[in-house]
Amino acid sequence: MPTILITGGAGFIGSHLVRRFVHHYPEYTIVNLDALTYAGNLENLRDVEHAPNYRFERADIRDPQALADVFNRFKPDGVIHLAAESHVDRSISNPIAFVETNVLGTVNLLNAARNLWGDDTSGKRFYHVSTDEVYGSLGEEGYFTEETRYDPRSPYSASKAASDHFVRAYFHTFNLPVVLSNCSNNYGPYHFPEKLIPLMLKNIRDEKPLPVYGDGQYTRDWLWVKDHASAIDTIFHKGRNGETYNIGGNNEWKNIDLVETLCDIMDEFLGREPGASRKLITFVKDRPGHDRRYAIDASKLKNELGWQPSIHAEEGFRETAKWYLENEEWLLRVTSGEYQLYYAQQYG
Ligand code: NAD
Ligand code: TYD
Repeated sequence: MPTILITGGAGFIGSHLVRRFVHHYPEYTIVNLDALTYAGNLENLRDVEHAPNYRFERADIRDPQALADVFNRFKPDGVIHLAAESHVDRSISNPIAFVETNVLGTVNLLNAARNLWGDDTSGKRFYHVSTDEVYGSLGEEGYFTEETRYDPRSPYSASKAASDHFVRAYFHTFNLPVVLSNCSNNYGPYHFPEKLIPLMLKNIRDEKPLPVYGDGQYTRDWLWVKDHASAIDTIFHKGRNGETYNIGGNNEWKNIDLVETLCDIMDEFLGREPGASRKLITFVKDRPGHDRRYAIDASKLKNELGWQPSIHAEEGFRETAKWYLENEEWLLRVTSGEYQLYYAQQYG
């Protein structure tokens, strides 16, 4: 009966992945290891916290001793590593935190797996969850493939790129059975409202300015978070060791078009005049080093492992907006305290 350690399971994507594994694999023991930073919230997993195959361990991946303790107690057969500092704007104000958690933390975790598994790695797997941002920025044309040269341009993407390199180095040097994926922007329930979509939904609800960086023509490929969880599940079980799989939604939006769409959906749900919320859109100072466009070619994942996204953009955005309106308490709790300080520093 395998034991799977998921790091960062109290965060946005991690909580969807933990929920999926707890439900889909009752024969597995799922250990959620998370330090519960500002971005981690056990409330995201309230519905599974009493499941017989679920355990939570509060530990910091920057602490090798704490990792050794968890690995020795649970002896995981698989690790799915999501714990990270994940917000580009925070990486601009405090790059060191990103080196410590994303780079050093990942190497600590690789060492913990290596120490536990030794040379006997049959049935073992270390899955590293990464981002398409490691590939840099695209012009109007083209897509990131698994062969695209790494060209990270923010402290966040540089730290994720470094962690990817370490994971591959452990495959080549120590035969650690690793697999990686690089995914586009996710959206959906439990997304911390420092990121574009939940921040806009919150501000629309509160009738506050909607801060669009620069000219608003920046483009992202958006993926429904539960589709990311299903892709990770597929790759974890069927992917080949040493391989990387790009995951994308085939769903490109310019930021301004996306924000306008969110305004229109929220106007409908809140019974406001059509166009009312668009008036809140405010163009603000651009993000330094802002990547112009991300777009993923996910054909390897489709052709080799048969995965593709399940839902269309408008449907996903409507689901998400509905969730944020129905979960005001969650929103209120995660935005009390530290969030207020961050918001004041970031947006004035
Ligand atoms: P998130 O910020 O919502 O969650 C991160 C989680 O990691 C939190 O629960 C936090 O408490 C935990 N954590 C942070 N530092 C830790 C530490 N030192 N020790 C232990 N736990 C720690 O992030 P997310 O958006 O869910 O992203 C998860 C992973 O997916 C990250 O590795 C990120 O790079 C990657 N990713 C995210 C996206 C996206 O659109 N959000 C897209 C592609 C890849
Ligand atoms: P974000 O959600 O931070 O994800 P990432 O930077 O990892 O892609 O931002 C998505 C896009 O939205 C990005 O082009 C920056 C832009 N953006 C704004 O215009 N305003 C905001 O307040 C935020 C947070 C992001």
